[in-house]
Amino acid sequence: MKNILIIGSLGQLGSEIALECRKRYGDDHVVLTDIRNDVNKPLVEGGPFYLVDARDGQSVDAIVKKHNIDTIYHLAAVLSARAEKDPLNAWNLNMGGLIATLEVAKTNGCAVFTPSSIGAFGPTTPKQYTPQDTIQRPTSIYGVTKVAGELLCDYYYHKFDVDTRGIRFPGVISNMTPPGGGTTDYAVEIYYEAVKSHHYTCFLRGDTYLDMIYMPDAVQAAIQIMEANPAKLRHRNAFNIAAMSFCPEEQAAYIRTHIPDFTISYDIDPVKQAIADSWPDSLEDYAARVEWDWKPRFDLAAMTSDMLTTIQRRSE
Ligand code: SER
Repeated sequence: MKNILIIGSLGQLGSEIALECRKRYGDDHVVLTDIRNDVNKPLVEGGPFYLVDARDGQSVDAIVKKHNIDTIYHLAAVLSARAEKDPLNAWNLNMGGLIATLEVAKTNGCAVFTPSSIGAFGPTTPKQYTPQDTIQRPTSIYGVTKVAGELLCDYYYHKFDVDTRGIRFPGVISNMTPPGGGTTDYAVEIYYEAVKSHHYTCFLRGDTYLDMIYMPDAVQAAIQIMEANPAKLRHRNAFNIAAMSFCPEEQAAYIRTHIPDFTISYDIDPVKQAIADSWPDSLEDYAARVEWDWKPRFDLAAMTSDMLTTIQRRSE
């Protein structure tokens, strides 16, 4: 039986990975931490929960020992656009949290999942079908922390034999917990505004292509890679995964197949646009498919239909 700790468990990814893990492994076997406890009551009260700063290695160590944890999901991070507003804070939180987790994992023999991102690439990376192993010179502080994180996880694996694993996530689209401060947040907001007011003002240009993934596939990927046979994992900490690539204009067109009078306009945010322009248009994910059988279920059409139906149902 697995005993799992999820750090940053009330965020966009954390809340849904936590829910699925509790279903799979049992409420008492999935311990949650976050720096707040005032959202998502069912998660906070549905099993062990601790208020802890991800950088507080001592407290995390005590929780790991108390609950006999064998697998840690480290999901506490400042996203790309917010990070540009306070780069020092983003570095301190993203790197401080990760190194604290890796140290605890080293001491206690835990496996660690750390998300990397399409943000780990930069303007000199090949833009189309970005290969698994390629140039990584990101220009955002978020990207700098992601590349450093990939390398740090590799280092702890080689040097200390910590079972580190990770995925480069595309923009994640979901309907339970909103993302906060990401460049890809528009692709979530657009569905809510489509249902509410049949109009969305987008902060990226209409022809900006980025890789995206629907949350059920993202959760499946995070769990699947931690259950994968370690002998098959050559790219431990930085698997490209791909599910769909689209631009705001295309997403709007798919929304129009459900809401025919939906309109989109543009009010470009120069910081977010610059970040988006520095990221790949689409990733190549052969390694993930071969090494741990990655296969997405949702494309843009299926996701759009599911998002709009779910948001509509909730708003009634
Ligand atoms: N969704 C993230 C962001 O926009 C990318 O990893 O920051």
